[in-house]
Amino acid sequence: MLVLGLETSCDETAVAIVDGDRRIRAERVRSQEDDHRPYGGIVPEIAARRHIDHLDRLIAASLREAGLAVTDLDGIAATAGPGLIGGLAVGLTMGKALAAVSRRPFLAVNHLEGHALSVRLVADVPFPYLLLLVSGGHSQLLIVAGVGRYRRLGTTLDDAVGEAFDKVAKLIGLGYPGGPAIERLAGSGDPERYKLPRPMAGRPGCDLSFSGLKTAVRHLVAGLGASLDDRVRADIAASFQAAVADSLADRTRAAIAVARAAHPGLATLVVAGGVAANLALRRRLALVADSGGLALVAPPQALCTDNGAMIAWAGIERLRLRLVDGLDFAPRPRWPLDPHAAPAAGAGVKA
Ligand code: KG4
Ligand code: ZN
Repeated sequence: MLVLGLETSCDETAVAIVDGDRRIRAERVRSQEDDHRPYGGIVPEIAARRHIDHLDRLIAASLREAGLAVTDLDGIAATAGPGLIGGLAVGLTMGKALAAVSRRPFLAVNHLEGHALSVRLVADVPFPYLLLLVSGGHSQLLIVAGVGRYRRLGTTLDDAVGEAFDKVAKLIGLGYPGGPAIERLAGSGDPERYKLPRPMAGRPGCDLSFSGLKTAVRHLVAGLGASLDDRVRADIAASFQAAVADSLADRTRAAIAVARAAHPGLATLVVAGGVAANLALRRRLALVADSGGLALVAPPQALCTDNGAMIAWAGIERLRLRLVDGLDFAPRPRWPLDPHAAPAAGAGVKA
């Protein structure tokens, strides 16, 4: 089984061809970081235009690398949401067109399902598992009971955690995207120098929150005056990352208790999404999983940030269950994985 995956929901134009034996036959990612860096964040209009500029070339290169024609594929998968509407329309239209001309099944993939199932592309992780999904647009705790079967235990009440990394990075003069820059700098900083809040720690339920932490860093930076020397910036990065780690650890512990009650045989905690690339956070979550009697499994870093392989793989999982979509499938800027979860409000909440 061979599926082409297209990912254009945010600022990465990503294409991959994956087979049913979990081999990535070809893969191309064109990041738009340089295009958005001058603005300190993603500009939706620019993102959509760059997807148009690059998508067809990346598809052609992937097919060439894999030595395949479109008609050799068994399905075409494209991210249909959630995300920026302009970019979604570009990838979805391309995917439908390829499916139409090659008469192959079309699979409209939920970007979050791509992240949620990405771990199964690299490891034998059976359902159900507990998922901490942490990215630039989302921060959620979910029980993954099967393909298309998700129960959301908690979500952010305001910003996504990756968004907090990006905003704090900007506050201390680091480039975009902020996550990797903060992680690098935090490595040489003192995590105890600045006392920052641990959002939601100890609260009932499994929801998350990061805007208060971001605001605390803003006040801290304002109080320190104009010039932040390298030592201070490293200590802020380390103190912020430690606060995030404590908050995520607390929320994940709460979710393990809920998930365990629903599924006594639960064995695995999975962390996915761009922020899951952070090795310090992974180390902390491994301890949390261990003390909750679970094993932590995380996809390799390249599969954590947005990529085409996770969309192709979600396509394969769906195709196996014949969960095929029509060519009239419209892009969905909002598309919660768990349709029964109460809608959450907030700037960073896309689902
Ligand atoms: O999953 P992703 O590539 O895109 C979304 O679906 O949002 O996640 C991007 C986010 C950005 O906010 C970025 O700063 C963050 O993931 N990120 C990290 C790291 N690498 C990427 N955050 C913390 N530590 C990292 N190493
Ligand atoms: Zn993502």
